[in-house]
Amino acid sequence: MKKIFSATEWLIDDEDEMRRLGAMLAKAIEAGDVLGLVGNLGAGKTRLVQGIVQGLGSKIPAVSPTFALVQEHRDAVPPTAHFDFYRLRTADEALGMGWEDYLHGGMVLLVEWADRFDGSLMPPQTIWVVITGSGEDPRRVRIKL
Ligand SMILES: Nc1ncnc2c1ncn2[C@@H]1O[C@H](COP(=O)(O)OP(=O)(O)OP(=O)(O)O)[C@@H](O)[C@H]1O
Ligand SMILES: [Mg+2]
Repeated sequence: MKKIFSATEWLIDDEDEMRRLGAMLAKAIEAGDVLGLVGNLGAGKTRLVQGIVQGLGSKIPAVSPTFALVQEHRDAVPPTAHFDFYRLRTADEALGMGWEDYLHGGMVLLVEWADRFDGSLMPPQTIWVVITGSGEDPRRVRIKL
């Protein structure tokens, strides 16, 4: 990720602002970046991903890939894959679905619930994005490079 923004923490008032933060982060994203998105149910992980993939130029709107594990945005620049680990029952289930291949495939990887299994599926270079807050409260978004 390019160091083009000085802040590492933002207070986000609503879902549109969350998408705009995603679009801003997209300007800094480089091929091979792995973002681990952490936050409770409804924290805004998917909203942030929507902004990122739109910012990367994908015409495919990001939806929750909960039932498919992964949604690819091959038209994004760089090509991007969006994961949701929420419904994984075991870490082996991810490995069975080709997670290792994605880790070596050079796509941008955006992973919701990346802290499942204590984060053991995520590589050491993961850029952690932690969202706190719920309901209609503002969200605090922290990025740990
Ligand atoms: N400041 C905010 N930023 C983002 N979303 C907000 C904010 N305030 C309220 N919301 C609402 O919170 C919800 C966030 O939903 P979203 O699907 O992005 O969460 P999520 O973290 O992906 O949840 P899940 O764990 O189910 O995947 C939306 O309904 C959105 O309208
Ligand atoms: Mg989601």
